[in-house]
Amino acid sequence: MTDQSPKRLFIKTYGCQMNVYDSQRMAEALGAEGYVETDRADDADMVLLNTCHIREKAAEKLYSDLGRLKPLKAERPDLKIGVAGCVAQAEGDEIIRRMPLVDLVVGPQAYHRLPAMARGEAPAVDTEFPAEDKFDHLPERRATRRHPAAFLTVQEGCDKFCAFCVVPYTRGAEVSRPAARILSEARDLVARGVREITLLGQNVNGWHGEGAAGLGELIRQLAGIEGLDRIRYTTSHPNDMADDLIAAHRDLPQLMPYLHLPVQSGSDRVLKAMNRKHTRDDYLRLVDRIRAARPDILLTSDFIAGFPGETDADHADTLRLIEEVGFGTAFSFKYSPRPGTPAAGRALVPEAVADARLHEMQALLARQQKAVQEGMVGRTLGVLFEKPGRLPGQMVGKSDYLHSVFVQAPEAAVGDLVQVRIVASAPNSLEGVLA
Ligand code: 5AD
Ligand code: SF4
Repeated sequence: MTDQSPKRLFIKTYGCQMNVYDSQRMAEALGAEGYVETDRADDADMVLLNTCHIREKAAEKLYSDLGRLKPLKAERPDLKIGVAGCVAQAEGDEIIRRMPLVDLVVGPQAYHRLPAMARGEAPAVDTEFPAEDKFDHLPERRATRRHPAAFLTVQEGCDKFCAFCVVPYTRGAEVSRPAARILSEARDLVARGVREITLLGQNVNGWHGEGAAGLGELIRQLAGIEGLDRIRYTTSHPNDMADDLIAAHRDLPQLMPYLHLPVQSGSDRVLKAMNRKHTRDDYLRLVDRIRAARPDILLTSDFIAGFPGETDADHADTLRLIEEVGFGTAFSFKYSPRPGTPAAGRALVPEAVADARLHEMQALLARQQKAVQEGMVGRTLGVLFEKPGRLPGQMVGKSDYLHSVFVQAPEAAVGDLVQVRIVASAPNSLEGVLA
């Protein structure tokens, strides 16, 4: 007797938004094989861990999670366990050697081969950078869950080689998808009820695909799609903020007033050691130009504390840069040496010093975040409802500036884009009333 019931797939996603997007596309690819998603590992037929290699802690999380799956695999040996994403790319079959319970290892450029791997018709380890484009071999986007905001990968990989970063090795060289493909995927998403699209790329503003001169022009083309109300993009490198992209922020109401622009450090010495190829002053002048084009833009950033060689004076420079710019929010991390990167062998800043610097940076950034959020109180902003809140009649959505906003709106539906007057600020969200 053959079992006709659908196979269940549990995906856990670590790390960045591109992994979130990749997980959706892998679910779609396996969907064509009869897999349906479940939110529990213990009743799944396949468990897929879509991993992140950016910092050591993120990578180690995979091994502790795999350890936790051991009893499940012992109970049900036919359970398939797959490792995808950047740890898969970096460690390949080493993962199976260390954790024999793993059946499949698939890198970020090979996941269109996942269905064949799952059927046992392709090698169990695939970390190639194949010549074919995985996007050409994936099934059409499907509406897995009704959600009015979607991610769309337009560019992958990075050619910048910052001294701390594994991305150029795990995601490979920069590759941009052609504009026509991106536009057709965007139209498809909009036809399914999507109103907001975030364009994704490790170095998204370095997009240089066919059919447009750069990301600015690509965004202009996307802005012509009827029903696409909001466009965002992430993550950008300061050196690739072209004039046309800055002008798009001035010209296009669909392009949201929000920009994630990592700077990593405010010290020229450290920026040089990081191979960032821009100075503190380059960044500050760029911020001025962006704000001249779109005065209300909310800037966010990434910072690393305790990069090898960083002194107290360098750290003070970073704090001063944060003060000067004023960020809406920012991610800050303690430096984590990554195997294979240029900075990996350099002498570390003592752990306690790096910890203290990280805390100081985070405290300052938290004060800025609080001030920015409090500054929203009294303003009327667009909010796109993404899901019902916990309280009866409550909806939760994102403001133009990407803050989560809770609103009493019993008549409203997910996908409504409404005007909301902000009445209060909580630590990580805002509260508003329908305007
Ligand atoms: N150590 C600490 N933080 C890192 N990041 C990237 N690599 C490292 C590392 N080795 C941070 C950078 C980057 C963000 C995605 O992660 O700030 O912008
Ligand atoms: Fe990593 Fe630098 Fe490329 Fe960003 S720009 S992905 S930090 S190498």
